[in-house]
Parts: sequence; structure tokens; C-alpha cells
Amino acid sequence: MTSREAVAAALSRARERTTVLTDSVDDGDLVAQHSPLMSPLVWDLAHIGNQEELWLVRDVGGRDAVRDDIDQLYDAFQHPRATRPSLPLLDPAQARDYVATVRDKTWDVLDHTRFDGRRLERDGFAFGMIAQHEQQHVETMLATHQLRAGARVLSAPPTPPPAPGSRPGEVVVPAGVFEMGTSTEPWALDNERPAHPVDVRAFAIETFPVTNARYREFIDDGGYERPELWTERGWRHRVDAGLEAPEFWTRDSGGAWWRRSFGTLAPVVADEPVVHVCWFEADAFARWAGKRLPTEAEWEKAARWDPRTGCSRRYPWGDDTPTAATANLGGTHLGPARVGAYPAGASASGAEQMIGDVWEWTSSGFDPYPGFEAFPYREYSEVFFGGDYRVLRGGSFGTDEVACRGTFRNWDHPIRRQIFAGFRLARDAGGTH
Ligand code: AVJ
Ligand code: FE
Repeated sequence: MTSREAVAAALSRARERTTVLTDSVDDGDLVAQHSPLMSPLVWDLAHIGNQEELWLVRDVGGRDAVRDDIDQLYDAFQHPRATRPSLPLLDPAQARDYVATVRDKTWDVLDHTRFDGRRLERDGFAFGMIAQHEQQHVETMLATHQLRAGARVLSAPPTPPPAPGSRPGEVVVPAGVFEMGTSTEPWALDNERPAHPVDVRAFAIETFPVTNARYREFIDDGGYERPELWTERGWRHRVDAGLEAPEFWTRDSGGAWWRRSFGTLAPVVADEPVVHVCWFEADAFARWAGKRLPTEAEWEKAARWDPRTGCSRRYPWGDDTPTAATANLGGTHLGPARVGAYPAGASASGAEQMIGDVWEWTSSGFDPYPGFEAFPYREYSEVFFGGDYRVLRGGSFGTDEVACRGTFRNWDHPIRRQIFAGFRLARDAGGTH
């Protein structure tokens, strides 16, 4: 049973991060568009408040509108990101005022909402959904910070070092049925539901995400110059977009690679997971390495399936919520940790860093599970099914735990690189019945 305290903590944690990301730059920066892929930060801010108003204040609370004149402006489906700066948006002071007013009403609604009523309110689902929504936009705003020019404005402690003796390798997951998705996780979104059996053939998956050092070998071996390593569409994109290395990498005259991260230029760290590669790059790398990307079902089985019980866990390490020892989440570190840094987060199969660090591209498109039901609105998931999307799993260093679990599904176009995405490799493992 979800407690009111858990709801309040999730909403407060989201607002703290929103505040850090929107207070760390000046008003000019807030209204600027740092990339045509992104909204101005001030749009995300008011959109966060508007979704909260629609679902918690008006729907759950049955209260009057805080602002009945701005819903259209902050409807993501009415205005593509590139056009958002030219809209008559709330200015930074108005947007801050708006989200604060909405939040005050939300606290009152929370006090008066029973968690055993209709489905939207059961276990505090609507509140959990809105906390997740805000945190998803926090991650989007973090990507905007990564794209923005200028000196670093965010600070973070360093990531923990790899555990002594940790080694790269792969683990074999035997053939058989496992339970994918969930019917019991109270705040799981519609696309994670329902739980259903999936028969998966034996496969091997790597212990760690692919590192920068290995990715550099791919570059040095002509990975970006050999069309046979790429799908036809991938190669066309690699040529048209002029891809030569992960986004934010530059090479100096001595041939050393540097990476810009939130305004700081630093040498590429050999054993950190590679980040800011698109699906086409991940797919080409896998072909070069003689392997492939895991399917979404393989990824989830490697992360959740416990061979001792035959059951699927909430997280790789078990059912307990993430801690600083099990996963690099929540924007604490502002970068992926070196591989081997989270042995306590290993799955029952032995794969590490599946949750946190970098989103992991899978080979799968974004499709509904058997028995899918859109809830509470078609525009969260259903309208994206069957489109040109690939599923990403596991969350990144920038993902909050409320928006990340073993069943959580993210999706994006195969050309996208501004998200905090890397990948890990898999291969068939015949005969392990
Ligand atoms: C699930 C991350 C693809 O950010 O576009 C935010 C989440 N949905 N507001 C996105 C979302 C509505 C979505 N992703
Ligand atoms: Fe949104």
C-alpha cells in the first residue's frame, strides 16, 4: 500500500530537481532554445505544472482551474518542440509562480484523496504518474543543459570507482519462459502492463555496458567508414548527419579524444560506458563486434529473472528500492560510473549496471504487450506504438528512481543522440536447455 508520505516525498524530490535545473541559469537562458530538439527550459517548467494541474488539481481534486487559458500552449502534441520558443509562453517569473500555485493545491488535494477509490487514485497512481512525469522532464531538461553552450553551472560529486577485481565478460541466460512486465507495481505506467509470460531462447549478454575504450577501437578500426557494418538506413543517416564519433566528442591535434559534459571538457574516460550514441551507431558497433543488441525481452530477463525462484524481481538486485550502492540514478553524479562500480546492483544472472548509468538501446520496436490497455490517456504510450521507435531500458544517471524500474520502458527515434543512451551487447547461446 502506498503511503501519503511516499507520494509527498516523490513530488518534493521532483520539484527540488526542477528548481535546481531552472534556477541555475538566468532568464535569458531559460527562454532560449538551446537545440531545435529541445524546448526552452521555461516551456518544460510550465508544462510540468500544467500536467499537474490537469491530472491532480482538476481531475483527481475536482477543483477549479488555476489557469484555464494555457492548456493548449503546453500540450506537447499541439506544438512541435522547434516551434515552442515562438509561442506566447509564460515568462520565467509567471511560470515559477504558476507551478508553485498548482503545487499548493496539489498538497491540499493529496490531503483529501483516498487511495482506495477509482483506478486513477488507487495506490496514489495519479500522484505517482505526475511525479514520474516531472522527473521525465527533469531528465529532458538535463539533456538541454548538456546541449547548452557555456560554462558549467551544475555540480556533482565524482562517481564511485570500480570494485577491485571486477572484469568484463558475459553471462549466459538459459532458454525458457519468464514473466515480463507487471500487473502489481502500483505506479507502473500503462505500457509496462500487464505481466505476461515470454519464452526466450538461450542468450549471452555482457556484464557491463560497452565502454568508451571499446568504442574508440571501433572508431580506430574504421567503424564509421565501413557501410557493411551499418544497416542501409543507418549508413544513410551516418553520411547525411556526418557522424564520426559519439555526440560531444572532439579529437585534439595529438589524436586524443575529449568529451564535453555539462560545460566541462575532459579526456574521455576509458572504462566509462559510452553515452550519446544513436541506435544506428549501437547497431553498427554490435555488428563490428560480432554480436548484436539484446531484444527488449532478453534485456528484461537478464535484469529481472531469478533462476532460483523462477520469479521476476522489481530490480536486478531484488525488490528493494535503489540505493547509492546499487545504482547510479537521480542526477547525483551527472555522468555514468566506470564499469564495475555497482557490484551490489548485479542481477541474479550476474549482469551489472543495468539500472542507472546509461539508457540501453535494445533491438526492439515500441509495441504493446498482449492485453495492453491505454491508461489513463492514449497519448502517453499508445499513439507511439508501431512507429519508428526503439525501446531503451534501465534508466541513466539522470533518471530518478520513481521513473525507473526493471519493467520501465523508454523509447526514441533511432537517430537520437541527445538522450543519455549507450548500449550493451548480446548474442545467441545455442543449446542451453
Ligand atoms: C517516455 C521519455 C519518451 O519525454 O517524450 C513526457 C515521457 N511523456 N511527457 C518523453 C513523457 C509525456 C516521454 N518519454
Ligand atoms: Fe510531458
